[in-house]
Amino acid sequence: MLILGIETSCDETAAAVVADGRRVLSSVVATQFELHAAYGGVVPEIAARRHLESILPVIQGALDQAGVAAPEIDGLAVTQGPGLIGALVIGMAVGKALALAWNRPLAGVHHLQAHILAAFLTENPPEFPFVALVVSGGHTNLYRVRDFQQMDLLGRSRDDAAGEAFDKVAKLLHLGYPGGVIIEKLARQGNPKAFHLPRPRIHAEPLTFSFSGLKTAVALQVTKNPEVLTDPGIQADLAAGFQEAVVDCLVSRAFLALEETGCQRLVVCGGVAANGRLRQVLQEKAAAEGCELFLPPLNLCTDNAAMVAAAGYHRLIAGERLDLSADVFSRG
Ligand code: KG4
Ligand code: ZN
Repeated sequence: MLILGIETSCDETAAAVVADGRRVLSSVVATQFELHAAYGGVVPEIAARRHLESILPVIQGALDQAGVAAPEIDGLAVTQGPGLIGALVIGMAVGKALALAWNRPLAGVHHLQAHILAAFLTENPPEFPFVALVVSGGHTNLYRVRDFQQMDLLGRSRDDAAGEAFDKVAKLLHLGYPGGVIIEKLARQGNPKAFHLPRPRIHAEPLTFSFSGLKTAVALQVTKNPEVLTDPGIQADLAAGFQEAVVDCLVSRAFLALEETGCQRLVVCGGVAANGRLRQVLQEKAAAEGCELFLPPLNLCTDNAAMVAAAGYHRLIAGERLDLSADVFSRG
């Protein structure tokens, strides 16, 4: 069963063709980061306009790359939310129009479920149940995943998401946008122990994340030591210290969730799961604890439409159809 996936929740316009929720035949991602870089973050109005320009060529590119003609597509899947409303409506309008024109069923997909189901687009997918840590620009959520649709929320960030913290700290250090990749690169040259940064935790809610205090601690260091902005060595030390603190917070909670649920399998996904240091620490800890770790390849961690097609496939085979009057949602 061939599903065309469409993703426009933030600043990537993406389309993909996936067979049976498992095999990626094509995955095209048109990133907009150069458009938003000048503003230091995603500007929703600009994102929506660019989605409108890119969406049809991106879809055509995905069909061409897969060597598939439109009539061979069995169903469509589109991200319904959460995300930027103006951006989501572009993908949704195109998904509905193609579903009508091609007379094919359409599934509305939850973006975070799609991130989790990216783990099934690999050679070695996880068995249920497992714990999933979704770390993206908008979310830091821990789930116990029972099947393709049943996911119980175990914990989340009470303030900034991990990716958002990377982006904000990059801005504080005048490093530009998008922050995650830039900080990771800089941190390789830094000493993570040079600065003492907090690992905020909420004692009554051990699976809750909080990153705003860490961001404030970095801001304080910048105020106290202005050379952080001019001395590349010190800047790298602070970037490394910040990254290490985020990694500690993520890894400790993910393994606590495994302990609390009795699960032996951990999926880590979303844009921040592309971070090399996070992947390394997770791999070391998983080996030490004897748990199975599932890390999608980098291009399936950051936003893409293959994961949307995979999630849509499971909705469609369960008989679910998106009502063509259904709307997108920004939160949830
Ligand atoms: O999942 P994603 O592509 O989009 C959302 O759904 O938000 O995640 C984007 C986030 C951004 O905050 C970006 O800075 C972060 O993922 N990110 C990274 C890395 N690559 C992307 N953070 C840390 N290290 C990376 N290598
Ligand atoms: Zn995402």
